[in-house]
Amino acid sequence: MRGIILAGGKGTRLFPLTKVTNKHLLPVGKEPMIFHCVRQMAGAGLTEVLVVTSTEHMGEIVSALGSGREFGINLTYRVQETADGIADALALGETFSGGEPIAVLLGDNIFAQPLAPFIQRFREAPDGARILLKRVADPERYGVAALDEQQVIAIEEKPRAPKSDYAVIGFYQYDQSVWDIIRTIKPSPRGELEITSVNNAYISQNRLSYDVYEGAWTDAGTFESYYQANQMMFGNLIKP
Ligand code: G1P
Repeated sequence: MRGIILAGGKGTRLFPLTKVTNKHLLPVGKEPMIFHCVRQMAGAGLTEVLVVTSTEHMGEIVSALGSGREFGINLTYRVQETADGIADALALGETFSGGEPIAVLLGDNIFAQPLAPFIQRFREAPDGARILLKRVADPERYGVAALDEQQVIAIEEKPRAPKSDYAVIGFYQYDQSVWDIIRTIKPSPRGELEITSVNNAYISQNRLSYDVYEGAWTDAGTFESYYQANQMMFGNLIKP
């Protein structure tokens, strides 16, 4: 099992904080945002981890994280030349995966609880896709799961009228068929290859399962959620 952290994008919603640096290097608690993701991977025993980021900020990301030795893991890097979506960034991980199943973390998602138990579960039966759901007050900001008798029957990206309050949060696990699936999906109306399209492809094959995450969580891509992420960290929910 290998880990992939997606830290591309332009971070426009946090401008001008992101004028000269990458969103994932902004401080959250006592450390740069991306450190929390790296620690999640290391804590789950994933020793080979790929970081995907944009051309402009690769240098700074490498300066911050180095070889991974400080975290007890090996880091590999790949550049996403254009911000064409999460699934487009993920596609850069195919060779790195070496045919192993993967755990994918969005670099701006901060989890107060370890992801290790979820990774362990998938490691034992690495078939299909396994996503993480969380009940939220503002589902329209996320990918949202439509459920029928405990089954996810569809995921809608940022729906105006969400079919549930279960957000699909930024941690996904896939078997090796993900690479073929990414090749089949088409850009969304916002012009991006969406991770939601990848997950919906697994649903159409009846190969998507999920866990529900009960701990504190936030993304940190907007000023409000970035503030929340800092409150969460300084509230001592996670001890860096
Ligand atoms: C992305 C995904 C969305 C997911 C969210 C979690 O949204 O597209 O499905 O719920 O991350 O943070 P974005 O941050 O690109 O708006």
